[in-house]
Amino acid sequence: MMNRIIAFGSIMVLLLGLQSCSNPSKPNYQYFPNMYEPVGYETYADSDAFANGIEAQLPVEGSIHRGWVPYGYPDSNEGYEAAKAELKSPIQVSAENGKQGKELYGIYCAVCHGNKGDGQGILMTREKYLGVPSYANRDITPGSIYHVLMYGRNAMGSHAGQVNATERWQIAQHVMELRKNLIK
Ligand code: HEC
Repeated sequence: MMNRIIAFGSIMVLLLGLQSCSNPSKPNYQYFPNMYEPVGYETYADSDAFANGIEAQLPVEGSIHRGWVPYGYPDSNEGYEAAKAELKSPIQVSAENGKQGKELYGIYCAVCHGNKGDGQGILMTREKYLGVPSYANRDITPGSIYHVLMYGRNAMGSHAGQVNATERWQIAQHVMELRKNLIK
């Protein structure tokens, strides 16, 4: 009996002892200190590694992002005429590319230009947008289409950010097919 009382007493003393260690205004015992106190890297910190002493650096001049194909023709009438005359598609005219082009055209162009390319997209028929031509009335080449996709033209915006180089050529193939069907 006496032993039990002593054992109980010592457990109580132990518990009280533990409790008195915990201070609610301070963090408790840390089991994995690295998780609570990570090594911090200051993104924009001062750094001796670079001449201007700043950690965050701009990309080297002339850098392009992965997958970006540089485009040499300027955004001007001369650039447009040059692209129209000289710029040739590097991809094959194939059924597969035509299929891809048709799909992308349906996503990005048909709202204005219409599925047939006659300029009667849903935005035109609902008079939300004006001045979309039929491809039949434009003297266009794959090169000029690519150019217009890069820079846009008047009321049409650039699509360079929406579709990559290969996709632009696939769309150009599809637009040329639509134009052929409109003319015949
Ligand atoms: C928001 C409506 C709109 C969308 C979307 C749009 N276009 Fe256009 N597009 C126009 C308008 C308006 C013009 C007439 C621009 C002008 O004044 O020559 C035009 C003109 C064109 C021309 C003729 C340019 C020339 O050389 O005369 C082509 C080719 C063309 N668009 C292709 C496309 C393709 C391909 C897409 C999809 C990737 C597309 N457009 C998406 C509105 C649009």
